Amino acid sequence: MLVLGIETTCDETAAAVVERLPDGSGKILSNIVRSQTEEHAAFGGVVPEIAARAHVEMLDGLVERAMKDAGTGFAQLSGVAAAAGPGLIGGVIVGLTTAKAIAMVHDTPLIAVNHLEAHALTPRLTCALAFPYLLFLASGGHTQIVAVIGVGQYVRLGTTVDDAMGEAFDKVAKMLGLPYPGGPEVERAARGGDPARFALPRPMLGRPDANFSLSGLKTAVRNEAARLDPMEPQDISDLCASFQAAVLESTADRLSVGVRLFHERFGPPRALVAAGGVAANQAIRGALQDVAAKAQTTMIIPPPALCTDNGAMIAWAGAERLALGMIDSLDAAPRARWLLDENAKAPAKFANTRAGF
Ligand code: KG4
Ligand code: ZN
Repeated sequence: MLVLGIETTCDETAAAVVERLPDGSGKILSNIVRSQTEEHAAFGGVVPEIAARAHVEMLDGLVERAMKDAGTGFAQLSGVAAAAGPGLIGGVIVGLTTAKAIAMVHDTPLIAVNHLEAHALTPRLTCALAFPYLLFLASGGHTQIVAVIGVGQYVRLGTTVDDAMGEAFDKVAKMLGLPYPGGPEVERAARGGDPARFALPRPMLGRPDANFSLSGLKTAVRNEAARLDPMEPQDISDLCASFQAAVLESTADRLSVGVRLFHERFGPPRALVAAGGVAANQAIRGALQDVAAKAQTTMIIPPPALCTDNGAMIAWAGAERLALGMIDSLDAAPRARWLLDENAKAPAKFANTRAGF
């Protein structure tokens, strides 16, 4: 089964062709990602209108290249999948409309994929993981602990009550004068820094729920930065290292509660999985390894290029759904907001503008 996947929900334009074999395993035949970093860098963040226009300009060429690299034609496709949300609506419309046009012209099924579901199912593409498993999803717009029970079956066990983790990395980078996108820059700066120099808060430590909070930590970084102003490069490195250490400790604590909640409701997870852009962070990977070892489960983190946004994850989620007959009609709507767990309720103190997307 060959599926073309299209991703345009944020600032990456991406297209990929993935093959799903009869035994349920997957193979990436092509995976092309074009990041719009340059277009947005001058503004210090993603500008939705610029993103949508760049998707329009780039997408057709990327789809053509993905098909060519995969050595296949539209007639050979079993389906075409696009991320139909959640995300910046202009970009989502571009990707979904393109997928609909291909589906209509080539009379092939359309799969309107939830971008978060695509992150959640990626470890089944990279290492044929069986259900159920515990997912730590941390990206620019989301920070969640999710029980992945099956395709389309997700139970949210924890979420952020304010900022998303990637968003906190990006904001800390911005306040320290590091370039956009901030996550990888903070990680790089932290490598040469002293994580013990600043006593930053460890948000939510010891709480019985599995929720996260990052805005207080971000404010603490801002206060230290203001106190030090003007900052030397070593100050920036030390502050990044201290921030990252606080994130790691809080994440490890929140995840160990998540593992316990998973056990109580679903028995032992097959693995602890991390996905989303923040999972590309090597230090976070180390912290997760410790949590998994304590929980006597395996840790699985897809390679960094499959943690950040890409087309292969959309194609794979499309293939998983297609294999179960879960296809969509050509009037499938683009969605700015789309919860992975439709039954999840907003936690108290939910104040984030990005977290619902
Ligand atoms: O999943 P993703 O590519 O896009 C969204 O769906 O949001 O995640 C992007 C986010 C950004 O906030 C970025 O700063 C963060 O992931 N990120 C990182 C790292 N690489 C990307 N955060 C910390 N360390 C990294 N190495
Ligand atoms: Zn993402």
